[in-house]
Amino acid sequence: MSLVRVLAEHDLEPGSLRAVEVRGEDGTLLPVVVVRAEDGGYHALGDECSHQSVLLSEGDDDAVEGCSVECWLHGSRFDLRTGRPSGPPAVSPVPVYRCEVSDGDVLVDVDQRQQAGAA
Ligand code: FES
Repeated sequence: MSLVRVLAEHDLEPGSLRAVEVRGEDGTLLPVVVVRAEDGGYHALGDECSHQSVLLSEGDDDAVEGCSVECWLHGSRFDLRTGRPSGPPAVSPVPVYRCEVSDGDVLVDVDQRQQAGAA
């Protein structure tokens, strides 16, 4: 699979997030949270906290701070570039997918995961 349009660029203000679903190469529909960081950059992460499997997208827009998103249930923050939690209770990263903006559209490729720790 390749990049798939998930939103229009103007659908997300800086510091906000949106749940989408994206079909992977194997046909599986994956939950993804698209986050627009406060600096305006777009990021796509797996929409499931690595601690207790709640949807990160169920947090409100206050969950987005700088270049991280906070899990609404217990407060772990995940880096939008690496997926790594900055502190407990989550200890494992969430997937970070390729995300680009082109011609006013936000595009995500769930078959291209960034490596945890890559900036
Ligand atoms: S469920 Fe997300 S930090 Fe606990």
